[in-house]
Amino acid sequence: MSDSRSGIRKVGVLGCGLMGSGIAQACAAAGYDTVVREPADQAAALERGRAGIERSLAKLVEKAKLQPAERDAALGRLAFATDLGALDGCDLVIEAVTEDLAVKNALWRELDGRLPPRAIFASNTSSLPIADMAVVTGRGDRFVGLHFFNPVPLMPLVEVVRSVTTSDATLAAALAFGRSLGKEVVVAKDASGFIVNLLLVPYLLDAVRAVERGVASVRDVDLAMQLGCGHPMGPLTLADFVGLDTACRIGDIMFEEYRDPRYAPPPLLRRMVTAGMYGRKSGRGFYDYGVEPPVPAALGL
Ligand code: CAA
Repeated sequence: MSDSRSGIRKVGVLGCGLMGSGIAQACAAAGYDTVVREPADQAAALERGRAGIERSLAKLVEKAKLQPAERDAALGRLAFATDLGALDGCDLVIEAVTEDLAVKNALWRELDGRLPPRAIFASNTSSLPIADMAVVTGRGDRFVGLHFFNPVPLMPLVEVVRSVTTSDATLAAALAFGRSLGKEVVVAKDASGFIVNLLLVPYLLDAVRAVERGVASVRDVDLAMQLGCGHPMGPLTLADFVGLDTACRIGDIMFEEYRDPRYAPPPLLRRMVTAGMYGRKSGRGFYDYGVEPPVPAALGL
């Protein structure tokens, strides 16, 4: 398909982790030819991503949110690649690799030389400045932020981030593209954390501080926010879901930007990351996921 206002037909997704695979799934389900890429030494991540997409699409069919024929069509539009050359011909590239500017910019430099100037580049970064990536390309006007939320197939929002170099036409194309995925779109300035993480990150870090200070147990902090405020997940369950390493990294980047202690990851979070307790993805964080339902982990508090 082609989005009539943005002229986008083929989408490339860099990174096939939790976010990249979810973004690729959303693009393919919306009718775009989609190629998702991991480097050759990460081929296992591609396979995990593919299996995750198949499971997610199967779940949506099971819940009658998708017809079996739509699932098959979406899978037919998806390609998995290790070669960057597979992204040739893309009208839009969405980057969802690790929150490391050097890694992201190495990819942008290479792609800038490969793809025609009309192609739009978008980063799914949670907290790094879009301008820091736009400047390493010759297409600052066609560089934008497209920030998705986990789990991408279910979360109905995309933050569209306009940097100082982003043109009106690119902003309009990004908004039209986000809507074409069936998402609601909001526009944010290129300030670390945009809208959601500006508010969410201090909240998650405050929940960790509450546990660290012995205000309440992990279970009670989560239950309080779930039942007292109607949140779908308590903050510590959500931090485990986002990934404690990711939450810590985002906090560090936001602290670097604002020098505001609200964004500084508390010691407990750092110790857990050091210990490899990354949350749901590593099997252990504030909860132990080795049992069903998960139980609060022993944190030595
Ligand atoms: N694809 C398809 N189906 C999925 C899915 C996926 N990726 N993930 C979950 N589901 C399904 C579940 O399997 C479940 O199906 P069943 O009912 O058949 O079991 C169904 O969706 C509902 O899930 P749950 O039963 O687990 O319960 P839920 O009602 O709590 O819904 C949720 C799950 C939508 C994730 C909800 O808990 C929620 O909205 N949580 C908050 C998520 C959130 O805040 N995300 C943003 C994080 S911040 C971020 O992403 C950005 C950043 O920069 C850090």
